[in-house]
Amino acid sequence: MSAPTDAQRMEKIVSLCKRRGFIFQSSEIYGGFNGAWDYGPLGVELKRNLKNYWWRVMVHERDDIVGMDGAILTHPAVLKASGHVEGFSDPMIDCRTCKAHLRADQLVEKKGVKQCPNCGGKDLTEARQFNLMFETHVGAAAEESSVAYLRPETAQSIFVQFKNILEVSRKKLPFGIAQIGKAFRNEINPRNFTFRSREFEQMELEYFCRPEQGMELLEYWKEERLKFYENIGISRANLNLLNVPDEERAFYSKGTYDIEYDFPFGRQELEGVAYRTDYDLSQHQKASGKSLEYFDEETKERFIPHVVEPSAGVDRTVLAIICEAYAEDQAPNDKGEMEGRTSLRFHPRMAPIKCAIFPLLRNKEPLVAKAKQILDLLRPHMFVFYDESGAIGRRYRRQDEIGTPFCVTVDFETLGEKQSDLRDTVTLRERDSMKQERVKISDLLELLLLRIA
Ligand code: GAP
Repeated sequence: MSAPTDAQRMEKIVSLCKRRGFIFQSSEIYGGFNGAWDYGPLGVELKRNLKNYWWRVMVHERDDIVGMDGAILTHPAVLKASGHVEGFSDPMIDCRTCKAHLRADQLVEKKGVKQCPNCGGKDLTEARQFNLMFETHVGAAAEESSVAYLRPETAQSIFVQFKNILEVSRKKLPFGIAQIGKAFRNEINPRNFTFRSREFEQMELEYFCRPEQGMELLEYWKEERLKFYENIGISRANLNLLNVPDEERAFYSKGTYDIEYDFPFGRQELEGVAYRTDYDLSQHQKASGKSLEYFDEETKERFIPHVVEPSAGVDRTVLAIICEAYAEDQAPNDKGEMEGRTSLRFHPRMAPIKCAIFPLLRNKEPLVAKAKQILDLLRPHMFVFYDESGAIGRRYRRQDEIGTPFCVTVDFETLGEKQSDLRDTVTLRERDSMKQERVKISDLLELLLLRIA
């Protein structure tokens, strides 16, 4: 069997995501809603595992970062001051032949002539700026004074709450404020599955510092963030660092790099890390008239802190985790014959279900009772799944396909029917190697907790 092409691989991933309940098209029964996605029972677990792990390493395991959860509905003054109302736009071009709306950077160029990527048409409009923010109205009257925006990034609520959080947390520079939450952008062309969506989640850190620390901290976060991706199962070989050149950086940024991942559809941004200087806090101080200065008790200086911002996408990282984990190999079936196997080789830390528990036979009451006892033992500590239907091989295959790293089988040895020294032991099978080991039920919880931590 030849290896699938990247396009075929992506098609298989999208199909598996739907078939096994990771990701569905939003409003599918009404024909779908472009740019919006719903996460199913397994997708929501994977997404939560990712967000919880980000929160753990960015907030709980550090003394210098605190969290917040800001509102999505945003006062227009905030986004005027930040520059989004004026400038958060993409250049858009229409194809007069097929009527497609295109981002200017999506045009293809053949022999120096720009063409529509959909129909090859050359009859294109001039580029015009298209603001990506979703506008809404608050209250009953839909007049200009009631305009609000769905936030296009979580960052602005962090800047706006900077002073409150500084006061309540009593942190000293450098310190950070972290947030995970929804952001909305009216993307001209949502595409590549969940990669470019109109509604998505971000995991953002604003790490405030003294001006002279900015460049050094930009460097510091590089290794921290690369380590993070490795710790969720994304190999460094599939990550790339792109130093954003001066002419492409936001005018206020003194340095930016993107962390990119080699998706089947190409190398694309997972996270941007930007040294945003004191731009945002200065803008909000100017526009609100409220001081956003920091007072250094040692030097008695007052100044606006600078900020380094690692900003990652939840949905893009979930997609990268799935793409990285997707594997096809051969495994023996119940008759011992080799057959094709699809598995998701998730890092156990990210896997939606940590352990599946099977009684060898569903109609043997003592096996079922023991399996349920194990279910009750593990359930308070991790997300587990009980399955008694079908041959064991088929049950393994179903768990492999959704990325469950461990399966426990309760068999006649567990009941001590063959050898009394095997009483109260089970088979623990590992997904990738398919190796099986005999483990005492009394050791199971500790052993699994160590492997999924
Ligand atoms: N506060 C900085 C900021 O928002 P960004 O590069 O525009 O920077 C940060 O966004 C991250 O948010 C991106 O690296 C990406 O992972 C995610 N992101 C941005 N736009 C997205 C979209 N349309 N769909 C999915 N994720 C998106």
